[in-house]
Amino acid sequence: MADSTIGAGVADGLRGAIGNTPLIKLQRASEATGCTILGKAEFMNPGGSVKDRAGLGIIQDAVARGALKPGGTVVEGTAGNTGIGLTLVANALGCRSVIVVPETQSREKLDFLRMIGADLRLVPAKPYSDPGNYQHVSRRLAEELGALWANQFDNVANRDAHRTTTGPEILQQAGRVDAFTCSCGTGGTLAGVGMALKAANPATRIVLADPDGSGLYGWIKSGDLSVQGSSITEGIGQSRVTANLEGAPIDDAVRIGDTDAVEQVFDLLIHEGLCVGGSAGLNVAAAIRVARDLGPGHTVVTILCDGGSRYQSKLFNPEFLHSKGLPAPPWLEPHSA
Ligand SMILES: Cc1ncc(COP(=O)(O)O)c(C=O)c1O
Repeated sequence: MADSTIGAGVADGLRGAIGNTPLIKLQRASEATGCTILGKAEFMNPGGSVKDRAGLGIIQDAVARGALKPGGTVVEGTAGNTGIGLTLVANALGCRSVIVVPETQSREKLDFLRMIGADLRLVPAKPYSDPGNYQHVSRRLAEELGALWANQFDNVANRDAHRTTTGPEILQQAGRVDAFTCSCGTGGTLAGVGMALKAANPATRIVLADPDGSGLYGWIKSGDLSVQGSSITEGIGQSRVTANLEGAPIDDAVRIGDTDAVEQVFDLLIHEGLCVGGSAGLNVAAAIRVARDLGPGHTVVTILCDGGSRYQSKLFNPEFLHSKGLPAPPWLEPHSA
């Protein structure tokens, strides 16, 4: 319920500070395509990513169902960002968090999780079919602890958070949206925003952007979820149809390689002053592809999922980039004095 003791411009605690992010016109991408390409600046959320919305939505739903009470514990398996969102929202409610993360995720996200008080459990990276996969480990841990399992992949409170907040914000900010594209981890963002945009205008095109090493491009194109290749991006890519993706109104898919994603990350930084992570770079590359397919004069919206500082040791490290056969920007290359 709204707090009548505070002014209309005041955010009501952390909950009120999540969302309502700017929708930024990306000049270079727009000029290159003759379209208006807009990026939703989700890196400006308090926890630094789009996943604050899922964390808040899942916890609010659990509180409303009586499944989480002050003093309770929330457990989740995550690439990191959902764990950050959940931990911050849990802290604000007087709850605790236990966060299970594959040890391959960036050091910065792991350090941040420890810093904000999460009980961090690192596990080896294993496929979903393996009982040691971080999602299964987190489910078993929640059962053992008698805690709430957030279950972001199959808990549709995740996509509902985007259907009721991210989507309506985009509609209100952009006025007109011809197409929306973004990559998927849980699929909550794409499904929820897609549902909101389609409800307002069924002609809006919803396009799934997929990295190498993910099965969703094949799923949309031919119903084949098999996986090939790999990607340095984190938090995106999926080899199964999650409950959040089931029934999502998706018209098409594009596959974007790391070279294009990384190029966009550095272009956004040096030409627009926006420092974003790999999934945001991939999303902008996808928006450019979608805009070119539609032709000039259209408005294409995408998500700037999180900030680049979360990946300083990888995406902004020339040694790491070269080891993956990817180009590093000139300003990061070591040069002799
Ligand atoms: C950096 C980043 N980008 C994109 C996503 C994907 O969002 P969603 O789970 O809503 O599909 C995630 C999810 O964790 C993420 O961490």
